Amino acid sequence: MKNLLLFGGFIILISVTIRNAVTHFNGVETDWGPHRPDTLAPEGNSHRFLTFRNILSKVEQSELIEQAKNAVFSQYANLNDAVTENRTTGFGIPKNEDGKCGWVRIPQKDGLCHIQNRFDAGSAAAMQGGYRKRYESLEHFSARNSYFRQTFSYLNDEDTKLSLAERFLHNDVILETAQAYCGEGKIVSPQIVYANVYLPGQELLVHTDTPFFRGLDRFKAPQWLLAAMHHSRLFDDYLLQVVTGVTFWSDVEGGGFVFYPNGTREPAEVAPVVKNTGIMTNTDRVVHGVDTVGTDHSNIPPLKRMYHFGDVDAQLSKAAGRDVWELKKPNGDVLGTYDWDTFRYSVSWKGFCFDEEELAEYENHTNDLDLDAAVQKLKDFLVNERGRSRESLVHPDGFAKALYTELLKPAFYDIREQTNYCILCENILKTKASDWVATICPFLNYQLLGCV
Ligand SMILES: [Fe+2]
Repeated sequence: MKNLLLFGGFIILISVTIRNAVTHFNGVETDWGPHRPDTLAPEGNSHRFLTFRNILSKVEQSELIEQAKNAVFSQYANLNDAVTENRTTGFGIPKNEDGKCGWVRIPQKDGLCHIQNRFDAGSAAAMQGGYRKRYESLEHFSARNSYFRQTFSYLNDEDTKLSLAERFLHNDVILETAQAYCGEGKIVSPQIVYANVYLPGQELLVHTDTPFFRGLDRFKAPQWLLAAMHHSRLFDDYLLQVVTGVTFWSDVEGGGFVFYPNGTREPAEVAPVVKNTGIMTNTDRVVHGVDTVGTDHSNIPPLKRMYHFGDVDAQLSKAAGRDVWELKKPNGDVLGTYDWDTFRYSVSWKGFCFDEEELAEYENHTNDLDLDAAVQKLKDFLVNERGRSRESLVHPDGFAKALYTELLKPAFYDIREQTNYCILCENILKTKASDWVATICPFLNYQLLGCV
Protein backbone atom coordinates (compact mmCIF):
# COMPACT_ATOMS: atom_id res chain seq x y z
CA MET A 1 0.00 0.00 0.00
CA LYS A 2 2.77 2.38 0.98
CA ASN A 3 4.62 1.60 -2.24
CA LEU A 4 1.48 2.16 -4.25
CA LEU A 5 0.99 5.59 -2.65
CA LEU A 6 4.61 6.48 -3.31
CA PHE A 7 4.30 5.38 -6.94
CA GLY A 8 1.07 7.38 -7.33
CA GLY A 9 2.72 10.46 -5.83
CA PHE A 10 5.66 10.05 -8.20
CA ILE A 11 3.37 9.85 -11.23
CA ILE A 12 1.47 12.97 -10.09
CA LEU A 13 4.75 14.84 -9.59
CA ILE A 14 5.95 13.93 -13.09
CA SER A 15 2.57 14.85 -14.61
CA VAL A 16 2.49 18.26 -12.91
CA THR A 17 6.06 18.98 -13.96
CA ILE A 18 5.44 18.05 -17.58
CA ARG A 19 2.16 19.96 -17.69
CA ASN A 20 3.90 23.03 -16.29
CA ALA A 21 6.62 22.76 -18.90
CA VAL A 22 4.21 22.34 -21.78
CA THR A 23 1.85 25.13 -20.77
CA HIS A 24 4.51 27.63 -19.74
CA PHE A 25 7.75 28.84 -21.20
CA ASN A 26 10.03 31.07 -19.19
CA GLY A 27 7.09 31.48 -16.86
CA VAL A 28 4.68 32.82 -19.46
CA GLU A 29 1.59 30.98 -20.57
CA THR A 30 1.92 29.09 -23.81
CA ASP A 31 -1.47 27.49 -23.71
CA TRP A 32 -3.31 26.39 -26.80
CA GLY A 33 -6.47 27.73 -25.23
CA PRO A 34 -8.86 30.52 -26.21
CA HIS A 35 -7.99 32.26 -29.42
CA ARG A 36 -7.06 35.91 -29.00
CA PRO A 37 -7.23 38.24 -31.99
CA ASP A 38 -4.11 39.59 -33.64
CA THR A 39 -5.05 43.24 -33.41
CA LEU A 40 -2.32 44.42 -35.76
CA ALA A 41 -3.34 42.15 -38.65
CA PRO A 42 -4.59 44.08 -41.68
CA GLU A 43 -8.34 44.52 -42.00
CA GLY A 44 -9.09 44.01 -45.66
CA ASN A 45 -6.12 45.13 -47.72
CA SER A 46 -2.58 43.99 -47.03
CA HIS A 47 -0.11 46.15 -45.17
CA ARG A 48 1.70 48.27 -47.71
CA PHE A 49 5.36 47.89 -48.57
CA LEU A 50 7.55 49.50 -51.21
CA THR A 51 10.81 48.29 -52.71
CA PHE A 52 13.51 50.63 -53.97
CA ARG A 53 16.95 50.44 -55.59
CA ASN A 54 19.97 52.44 -56.77
CA ILE A 55 20.28 54.09 -53.39
CA LEU A 56 23.98 54.96 -53.55
CA SER A 57 26.40 55.57 -56.42
CA LYS A 58 29.28 53.12 -57.00
CA VAL A 59 31.72 55.48 -55.25
CA GLU A 60 29.39 55.96 -52.28
CA GLN A 61 28.92 52.20 -51.99
CA SER A 62 32.67 51.67 -51.82
CA GLU A 63 32.99 54.35 -49.15
CA LEU A 64 30.15 52.80 -47.16
CA ILE A 65 31.63 49.31 -47.23
CA GLU A 66 35.10 50.64 -46.39
CA GLN A 67 33.69 52.49 -43.41
CA ALA A 68 31.73 49.43 -42.29
CA LYS A 69 34.76 47.19 -42.57
CA ASN A 70 36.64 49.41 -40.15
CA ALA A 71 33.81 49.78 -37.64
CA VAL A 72 33.49 47.96 -34.34
CA PHE A 73 30.17 46.19 -33.94
CA SER A 74 28.67 45.37 -30.55
CA GLN A 75 25.93 42.87 -29.90
CA TYR A 76 22.48 44.32 -30.14
CA ALA A 77 21.43 42.27 -27.12
CA ASN A 78 24.04 44.16 -25.13
CA LEU A 79 23.14 47.58 -26.46
CA ASN A 80 19.44 46.91 -26.09
CA ASP A 81 19.20 45.10 -22.79
CA ALA A 82 22.29 45.37 -20.64
CA VAL A 83 22.52 49.11 -21.23
CA THR A 84 18.83 49.66 -21.31
CA GLU A 85 17.11 52.87 -20.44
CA ASN A 86 14.08 51.77 -18.47
CA ARG A 87 15.54 52.17 -14.99
CA THR A 88 13.08 54.60 -13.55
CA THR A 89 9.88 53.03 -14.71
CA GLY A 90 8.96 51.19 -11.53
CA PHE A 91 9.19 47.75 -13.09
CA GLY A 92 12.55 46.80 -11.58
CA ILE A 93 12.56 44.37 -8.65
CA PRO A 94 15.34 43.37 -6.20
CA LYS A 95 17.44 40.28 -6.87
CA ASN A 96 16.41 36.93 -5.38
CA GLU A 97 18.10 35.64 -2.24
CA ASP A 98 20.48 33.62 -4.42
CA GLY A 99 21.60 36.88 -6.08
CA LYS A 100 19.95 35.98 -9.37
CA CYS A 101 17.18 37.76 -11.20
CA GLY A 102 14.97 34.85 -12.20
CA TRP A 103 12.28 34.70 -14.88
CA VAL A 104 13.27 36.71 -17.99
CA ARG A 105 14.94 39.44 -15.99
CA ILE A 106 18.46 40.78 -16.16
CA PRO A 107 20.33 43.00 -13.68
CA GLN A 108 20.85 46.61 -14.67
CA LYS A 109 22.86 49.54 -13.45
CA ASP A 110 20.28 50.52 -10.83
CA GLY A 111 20.99 47.18 -9.11
CA LEU A 112 17.48 45.95 -9.84
CA CYS A 113 16.31 43.16 -12.09
CA HIS A 114 14.42 44.33 -15.17
CA ILE A 115 12.33 42.28 -17.57
CA GLN A 116 14.20 41.78 -20.85
CA ASN A 117 13.12 44.39 -23.31
CA ARG A 118 11.44 42.13 -25.83
CA PHE A 119 10.87 38.92 -23.89
CA ASP A 120 7.60 38.67 -25.79
CA ALA A 121 8.99 38.12 -29.28
CA GLY A 122 11.85 36.00 -27.91
CA SER A 123 9.55 33.69 -25.97
CA ALA A 124 7.16 33.21 -28.88
CA ALA A 125 9.95 32.50 -31.37
CA ALA A 126 11.78 30.09 -29.05
CA MET A 127 8.57 28.14 -28.55
CA GLN A 128 8.09 27.87 -32.29
CA GLY A 129 11.66 27.26 -33.38
CA GLY A 130 12.08 30.46 -35.39
CA TYR A 131 11.05 31.18 -38.97
CA ARG A 132 12.74 27.93 -40.09
CA LYS A 133 10.82 25.99 -37.43
CA ARG A 134 13.81 24.18 -36.08
CA TYR A 135 14.12 21.70 -33.26
CA GLU A 136 16.85 23.62 -31.54
CA SER A 137 18.17 24.17 -28.03
CA LEU A 138 17.89 27.57 -26.41
CA GLU A 139 21.67 27.89 -26.50
CA HIS A 140 21.68 27.62 -30.28
CA PHE A 141 18.54 29.69 -30.72
CA SER A 142 20.08 32.53 -28.68
CA ALA A 143 23.40 32.38 -30.54
CA ARG A 144 21.59 32.66 -33.87
CA ASN A 145 19.61 35.68 -32.77
CA SER A 146 22.41 37.69 -31.22
CA TYR A 147 23.42 39.88 -34.16
CA PHE A 148 25.62 42.98 -34.23
CA ARG A 149 24.84 46.65 -34.54
CA GLN A 150 26.32 50.09 -35.00
CA THR A 151 23.94 53.01 -34.43
CA PHE A 152 24.70 56.14 -36.41
CA SER A 153 21.80 58.33 -35.46
CA TYR A 154 19.13 57.99 -32.83
CA LEU A 155 16.23 60.43 -32.73
CA ASN A 156 18.44 62.89 -34.61
CA ASP A 157 21.13 62.75 -31.95
CA GLU A 158 23.61 61.84 -34.62
CA ASP A 159 27.33 61.49 -34.46
CA THR A 160 28.39 64.11 -36.98
CA LYS A 161 31.78 62.48 -37.37
CA LEU A 162 30.08 59.66 -39.21
CA SER A 163 29.24 60.62 -42.76
CA LEU A 164 27.02 57.57 -43.05
CA ALA A 165 24.36 59.09 -40.84
CA GLU A 166 23.98 62.18 -42.99
CA ARG A 167 24.16 60.16 -46.16
CA PHE A 168 21.35 57.87 -45.14
CA LEU A 169 19.14 60.17 -43.11
CA HIS A 170 18.71 62.51 -46.06
CA ASN A 171 19.25 60.16 -48.99
CA ASP A 172 17.08 61.20 -51.95
CA VAL A 173 15.93 57.72 -52.92
CA ILE A 174 14.99 56.84 -49.35
CA LEU A 175 13.21 60.16 -48.78
CA GLU A 176 11.25 59.85 -52.04
CA THR A 177 10.18 56.32 -51.12
CA ALA A 178 9.24 57.44 -47.60
CA GLN A 179 7.19 60.32 -49.02
CA ALA A 180 5.34 57.86 -51.26
CA TYR A 181 4.79 55.58 -48.26
CA CYS A 182 3.60 58.33 -45.92
CA GLY A 183 1.34 59.87 -48.53
CA GLU A 184 0.97 63.14 -50.37
CA GLY A 185 1.02 66.20 -48.14
CA LYS A 186 2.59 64.35 -45.20
CA ILE A 187 5.79 65.56 -43.61
CA VAL A 188 8.57 62.95 -43.55
CA SER A 189 10.77 63.37 -40.49
CA PRO A 190 13.99 61.28 -40.67
CA GLN A 191 14.98 60.02 -37.24
CA ILE A 192 17.21 56.98 -36.95
CA VAL A 193 19.99 55.23 -38.90
CA TYR A 194 21.76 52.06 -37.81
CA ALA A 195 23.70 49.22 -39.37
CA ASN A 196 23.36 45.52 -38.58
CA VAL A 197 25.81 42.72 -39.19
CA TYR A 198 24.68 39.09 -39.14
CA LEU A 199 27.20 36.26 -39.03
CA PRO A 200 26.70 33.12 -41.13
CA GLY A 201 24.00 31.07 -39.41
CA GLN A 202 22.43 34.06 -37.69
CA GLU A 203 18.88 35.24 -38.16
CA LEU A 204 16.35 37.49 -36.47
CA LEU A 205 13.23 36.15 -34.86
CA VAL A 206 9.98 37.62 -36.11
CA HIS A 207 8.70 40.60 -34.17
CA THR A 208 7.11 43.99 -34.44
CA ASP A 209 9.43 46.88 -33.67
CA THR A 210 9.18 48.82 -30.44
CA PRO A 211 6.84 51.73 -31.20
CA PHE A 212 6.95 55.40 -30.21
CA PHE A 213 4.10 57.26 -28.59
CA ARG A 214 3.96 60.98 -27.97
CA GLY A 215 5.38 61.33 -24.46
CA LEU A 216 6.39 57.67 -24.14
CA ASP A 217 9.24 55.91 -25.86
CA ARG A 218 11.94 53.41 -24.90
CA PHE A 219 13.68 56.03 -22.79
CA LYS A 220 10.68 56.31 -20.50
CA ALA A 221 8.96 52.93 -20.61
CA PRO A 222 9.95 49.27 -20.98
CA GLN A 223 9.93 48.13 -24.58
CA TRP A 224 7.61 45.16 -23.92
CA LEU A 225 5.10 47.60 -22.44
CA LEU A 226 5.28 49.91 -25.46
CA ALA A 227 4.79 46.93 -27.77
CA ALA A 228 1.77 45.74 -25.74
CA MET A 229 0.32 49.27 -25.83
CA HIS A 230 0.57 49.22 -29.61
CA HIS A 231 -0.96 45.74 -29.91
CA SER A 232 -3.84 46.80 -27.62
CA ARG A 233 -4.85 49.58 -30.08
CA LEU A 234 -5.93 51.60 -27.02
CA PHE A 235 -3.34 54.30 -27.63
CA ASP A 236 -3.60 54.82 -31.39
CA ASP A 237 -4.25 58.54 -30.89
CA TYR A 238 -0.76 58.90 -29.42
CA LEU A 239 1.07 56.53 -31.75
CA LEU A 240 3.72 58.01 -34.03
CA GLN A 241 3.46 56.67 -37.57
CA VAL A 242 6.79 55.04 -38.29
CA VAL A 243 8.20 54.05 -41.64
CA THR A 244 11.32 51.89 -41.85
CA GLY A 245 13.58 51.30 -44.83
CA VAL A 246 15.98 48.36 -44.74
CA THR A 247 18.82 48.58 -47.29
CA PHE A 248 21.12 45.70 -48.26
CA TRP A 249 24.85 45.95 -48.83
CA SER A 250 25.92 42.32 -49.22
CA ASP A 251 25.57 39.58 -51.78
CA VAL A 252 25.17 36.69 -49.35
CA GLU A 253 22.88 33.73 -49.81
CA GLY A 254 19.92 33.70 -47.42
CA GLY A 255 19.35 36.48 -44.92
CA GLY A 256 16.21 37.73 -46.68
CA PHE A 257 13.88 40.20 -44.98
CA VAL A 258 10.93 38.03 -43.97
CA PHE A 259 7.64 39.83 -43.45
CA TYR A 260 3.91 39.17 -43.17
CA PRO A 261 2.00 41.88 -45.06
CA ASN A 262 -1.21 39.85 -44.67
CA GLY A 263 -0.72 39.01 -41.02
CA THR A 264 0.94 35.95 -39.55
CA ARG A 265 -1.99 33.66 -40.41
CA GLU A 266 -0.99 34.06 -44.06
CA PRO A 267 2.29 33.10 -45.78
CA ALA A 268 5.35 35.33 -45.44
CA GLU A 269 6.94 37.35 -48.19
CA VAL A 270 10.73 37.53 -48.44
CA ALA A 271 12.73 40.47 -49.81
CA PRO A 272 16.06 38.96 -50.95
CA VAL A 273 19.42 40.43 -50.01
CA VAL A 274 20.50 42.28 -53.16
CA LYS A 275 23.15 44.96 -52.88
CA ASN A 276 21.96 48.58 -53.24
CA THR A 277 18.27 47.70 -52.90
CA GLY A 278 15.84 48.18 -50.05
CA ILE A 279 12.36 47.56 -48.71
CA MET A 280 10.18 49.99 -46.82
CA THR A 281 7.19 49.32 -44.60
CA ASN A 282 5.77 50.08 -41.17
CA THR A 283 7.84 47.63 -39.11
CA ASP A 284 6.03 48.64 -35.92
CA ARG A 285 2.92 47.08 -37.38
CA VAL A 286 4.09 44.45 -39.88
CA VAL A 287 5.55 41.33 -38.25
CA HIS A 288 9.02 40.76 -39.71
CA GLY A 289 12.40 39.11 -39.18
CA VAL A 290 15.53 37.97 -40.98
CA ASP A 291 15.98 34.53 -42.54
CA THR A 292 19.12 32.54 -41.76
CA VAL A 293 22.27 33.93 -43.36
CA GLY A 294 24.15 31.56 -45.65
CA THR A 295 23.04 28.22 -47.00
CA ASP A 296 24.41 26.09 -44.16
CA HIS A 297 21.77 26.23 -41.45
CA SER A 298 23.78 23.96 -39.20
CA ASN A 299 26.24 26.85 -38.89
CA ILE A 300 25.79 28.24 -35.39
CA PRO A 301 27.84 31.24 -34.22
CA PRO A 302 30.13 30.57 -31.24
CA LEU A 303 28.00 32.52 -28.77
CA LYS A 304 26.59 29.60 -26.89
CA ARG A 305 26.30 31.31 -23.52
CA MET A 306 23.97 33.98 -24.88
CA TYR A 307 20.88 32.40 -23.37
CA HIS A 308 22.30 33.16 -19.95
CA PHE A 309 23.54 36.57 -21.09
CA GLY A 310 27.12 35.34 -21.21
CA ASP A 311 29.24 36.28 -24.24
CA VAL A 312 27.04 39.36 -24.52
CA ASP A 313 29.97 41.73 -24.62
CA ALA A 314 31.65 40.08 -27.62
CA GLN A 315 32.55 42.47 -30.43
CA LEU A 316 33.18 42.13 -34.11
CA SER A 317 36.05 44.03 -35.75
CA LYS A 318 38.78 43.77 -38.37
CA ALA A 319 41.89 41.88 -37.28
CA ALA A 320 45.04 43.99 -37.12
CA GLY A 321 46.99 43.72 -40.38
CA ARG A 322 44.81 40.99 -41.85
CA ASP A 323 41.79 40.98 -44.10
CA VAL A 324 39.64 38.94 -41.72
CA TRP A 325 37.11 39.86 -39.03
CA GLU A 326 37.33 38.55 -35.51
CA LEU A 327 34.59 37.86 -33.02
CA LYS A 328 36.33 38.65 -29.75
CA LYS A 329 35.64 38.76 -26.05
CA PRO A 330 36.85 41.86 -24.15
CA ASN A 331 39.77 39.84 -22.78
CA GLY A 332 40.99 39.27 -26.34
CA ASP A 333 39.85 35.65 -26.69
CA VAL A 334 38.89 35.04 -30.32
CA LEU A 335 35.61 33.17 -30.63
CA GLY A 336 35.54 33.06 -34.42
CA THR A 337 37.19 34.41 -37.59
CA TYR A 338 35.26 35.44 -40.71
CA ASP A 339 35.60 36.81 -44.23
CA TRP A 340 33.64 40.03 -44.72
CA ASP A 341 31.84 38.51 -47.71
CA THR A 342 30.13 35.97 -45.46
CA PHE A 343 28.35 38.72 -43.48
CA ARG A 344 24.93 40.15 -44.11
CA TYR A 345 25.41 43.91 -43.75
CA SER A 346 22.32 46.12 -43.83
CA VAL A 347 21.58 49.73 -42.98
CA SER A 348 18.17 50.66 -41.62
CA TRP A 349 16.49 54.06 -41.77
CA LYS A 350 13.54 55.11 -39.67
CA GLY A 351 11.38 58.18 -39.96
CA PHE A 352 8.02 59.48 -38.79
CA CYS A 353 5.09 60.53 -41.00
CA PHE A 354 3.32 63.65 -39.69
CA ASP A 355 0.65 66.02 -40.78
CA GLU A 356 1.18 69.60 -39.57
CA GLU A 357 -1.01 69.24 -36.51
CA GLU A 358 0.68 65.99 -35.46
CA LEU A 359 4.12 67.52 -35.91
CA ALA A 360 3.19 70.50 -33.73
CA GLU A 361 1.81 68.21 -31.02
CA TYR A 362 4.97 66.11 -31.14
CA GLU A 363 7.36 69.04 -31.00
CA ASN A 364 5.45 71.08 -28.41
CA HIS A 365 4.40 68.14 -26.22
CA THR A 366 0.89 69.52 -26.04
CA ASN A 367 -0.85 66.13 -26.05
CA ASP A 368 1.52 63.64 -24.46
CA LEU A 369 0.76 60.34 -22.79
CA ASP A 370 2.24 59.50 -19.40
CA LEU A 371 3.31 56.13 -18.08
CA ASP A 372 0.92 55.89 -15.12
CA ALA A 373 -2.10 56.64 -17.27
CA ALA A 374 -1.01 54.08 -19.86
CA VAL A 375 -0.46 51.36 -17.24
CA GLN A 376 -3.83 52.08 -15.64
CA LYS A 377 -5.61 51.86 -18.99
CA LEU A 378 -3.95 48.55 -19.82
CA LYS A 379 -4.83 47.11 -16.42
CA ASP A 380 -8.45 48.19 -16.81
CA PHE A 381 -8.49 46.47 -20.21
CA LEU A 382 -7.05 43.24 -18.78
CA VAL A 383 -9.60 43.23 -15.95
CA ASN A 384 -12.70 44.40 -17.81
CA GLU A 385 -12.17 42.86 -21.24
CA ARG A 386 -10.08 39.78 -20.52
CA GLY A 387 -11.28 38.72 -17.08
CA ARG A 388 -7.94 39.01 -15.29
CA SER A 389 -8.02 39.73 -11.56
CA ARG A 390 -6.63 43.11 -10.52
CA GLU A 391 -4.49 41.46 -7.80
CA SER A 392 -2.74 39.31 -10.41
CA LEU A 393 -1.54 42.47 -12.17
CA VAL A 394 0.00 44.16 -9.13
CA HIS A 395 3.39 42.48 -9.46
CA PRO A 396 5.23 43.54 -12.64
CA ASP A 397 5.71 39.87 -13.62
CA GLY A 398 1.97 39.18 -13.47
CA PHE A 399 1.23 42.32 -15.48
CA ALA A 400 3.88 41.54 -18.14
CA LYS A 401 2.80 37.91 -18.48
CA ALA A 402 -0.85 38.88 -18.88
CA LEU A 403 0.07 41.39 -21.59
CA TYR A 404 2.08 38.71 -23.35
CA THR A 405 -0.73 36.18 -23.37
CA GLU A 406 -3.55 38.56 -24.22
CA LEU A 407 -1.89 40.99 -26.62
CA LEU A 408 1.59 40.10 -27.80
CA LYS A 409 1.63 36.35 -28.33
CA PRO A 410 -1.41 36.41 -30.64
CA ALA A 411 0.56 38.48 -33.14
CA PHE A 412 3.30 35.86 -33.45
CA TYR A 413 2.04 32.52 -32.30
CA ASP A 414 0.17 31.26 -35.32
CA ILE A 415 3.38 31.41 -37.30
CA ARG A 416 4.23 28.11 -35.67
CA GLU A 417 3.24 24.93 -37.35
CA GLN A 418 5.22 23.06 -34.79
CA THR A 419 6.36 23.48 -31.22
CA ASN A 420 10.06 23.48 -30.52
CA TYR A 421 10.06 20.67 -27.95
CA CYS A 422 13.80 21.14 -27.56
CA ILE A 423 13.17 23.98 -25.14
CA LEU A 424 11.10 21.82 -22.80
CA CYS A 425 14.02 20.37 -20.88
CA GLU A 426 15.54 23.76 -20.17
CA ASN A 427 12.10 24.96 -19.18
CA ILE A 428 11.58 22.09 -16.74
CA LEU A 429 15.04 22.63 -15.29
CA LYS A 430 14.13 26.25 -14.64
CA THR A 431 11.32 25.07 -12.43
CA LYS A 432 13.99 23.37 -10.28
CA ALA A 433 11.97 20.16 -10.62
CA SER A 434 14.73 17.75 -9.72
CA ASP A 435 17.95 16.22 -10.87
CA TRP A 436 16.30 13.39 -12.76
CA VAL A 437 15.23 15.90 -15.40
CA ALA A 438 18.83 16.97 -15.94
CA THR A 439 19.77 13.32 -16.30
CA ILE A 440 17.23 12.49 -18.97
CA CYS A 441 17.40 15.84 -20.81
CA PRO A 442 20.31 15.04 -23.13
CA PHE A 443 18.70 11.71 -24.05
CA LEU A 444 15.32 13.34 -24.58
CA ASN A 445 16.73 16.27 -26.58
CA TYR A 446 19.33 14.66 -28.74
CA GLN A 447 18.34 10.99 -29.05
CA LEU A 448 14.57 11.15 -28.96
CA LEU A 449 13.70 14.58 -30.41
CA GLY A 450 16.66 15.04 -32.75
CA CYS A 451 17.43 18.52 -31.44
CA VAL A 452 20.56 20.40 -32.40
FE1 LIG B 1 12.58 44.96 -36.61
